[in-house]
Amino acid sequence: MSKTVLVTGGAGYVGSHCAKAFAKAGWTVVTYDNLSRGHRDLVKWGELIEGDILDRAFLTETLKRVQPDAVAHFAAFAYVAESMAEPAMYYRNNVTGTMNLLDAMVVAGVGQMVFSSSCATYGVSNELITEDTPQNPINPYGETKKVCEQMIRDYGAAHDIRSVILRYFNAAGCDPDGETGERHDPEPHVIPLAIRGAMDGTFTFNILGGDYDTPDGTCVRDYIHVSDLADAHGRALDYLAKGGNSEVFNLGTGRGASVLELADAVSRVAGKEVPRVIADRRPGDPPILVASADKAKAVLGWEPKISDLNTILTTAWAWFQREAER
Ligand SMILES: NC(=O)c1ccc[n+]([C@@H]2O[C@H](COP(=O)([O-])OP(=O)(O)OC[C@H]3O[C@@H](n4cnc5c(N)ncnc54)[C@H](O)[C@@H]3O)[C@@H](O)[C@H]2O)c1
Repeated sequence: MSKTVLVTGGAGYVGSHCAKAFAKAGWTVVTYDNLSRGHRDLVKWGELIEGDILDRAFLTETLKRVQPDAVAHFAAFAYVAESMAEPAMYYRNNVTGTMNLLDAMVVAGVGQMVFSSSCATYGVSNELITEDTPQNPINPYGETKKVCEQMIRDYGAAHDIRSVILRYFNAAGCDPDGETGERHDPEPHVIPLAIRGAMDGTFTFNILGGDYDTPDGTCVRDYIHVSDLADAHGRALDYLAKGGNSEVFNLGTGRGASVLELADAVSRVAGKEVPRVIADRRPGDPPILVASADKAKAVLGWEPKISDLNTILTTAWAWFQREAER
């Protein structure tokens, strides 16, 4: 009999790609999403239950009824700048929401969880970041994820919950089959914005800060293809199903690209120059974030397969061309 995974936030960008990977691997997928930032038409792999993780009673009732073998928890707000302006909104949704989910798991007797954490929990680190790098977030978004990690560990110790915490770096690219992709409004992410620069003659791509202490003065990030992330989540579910102990893994490529390099790479893929301007820094942005993902390789056997910048940008470009015609 197939196992069931409840996917909170499965109507969003990373969650929908993971739902596809889970379904392909034979899991029965049930998405739980309030559609605040997700999309009904991206829930293609299993049932959608429209619900809020802040609705404790309905969430608990849903877990009791669905009786999933595991929960994959993506539902959250995830924009650094917004978290600086609206911290309460972030603590409420991300921290209270995750606490509600853990409480519901305890009541329903669900003992396995994969959690979307983030490189934003590390803060400023110019070295290759390992899982042992101290976590000193510099924005409320990163703080909320750090608090959630601690809560998951504490609940795990007190109750029978094993977890895999995945700290991903910059999720990027879109499903190579074009079945799901990235759709945010407003869009804060750098790749969709650079692509918009190449697609829309009236839009200028703002590079947020040109005076960082990096080789070309712009921020350096580790871009990881969302389908490679989905593969890692599938492996994390299998690891827990086989009895694996609670663990935390970075998911990245070990290589950084600057925003200027990214804009040039988008220009190459698009065959058109991305119009760009250096604007002010955005508060809350560390200069460099690059992962060591050696642990995920050693324990989960995971390696990025399509996270070269060209594949990331080609798959994203194809998706945004189709979105423009939607
Ligand atoms: N995108 C990245 O680069 C990145 C990097 C690191 C970590 N993450 C984490 O991955 C997860 C998914 O990110 P994403 O980029 O796919 O974001 P997203 O906004 O596309 O998806 C989040 C989904 O959660 C849903 N949601 C939000 N609040 C909810 C609530 N209270 N109840 C029910 N559903 C709710 C939204 O409707 C949306 O479908 C988040 O937890 C985020 O913090 C993302």
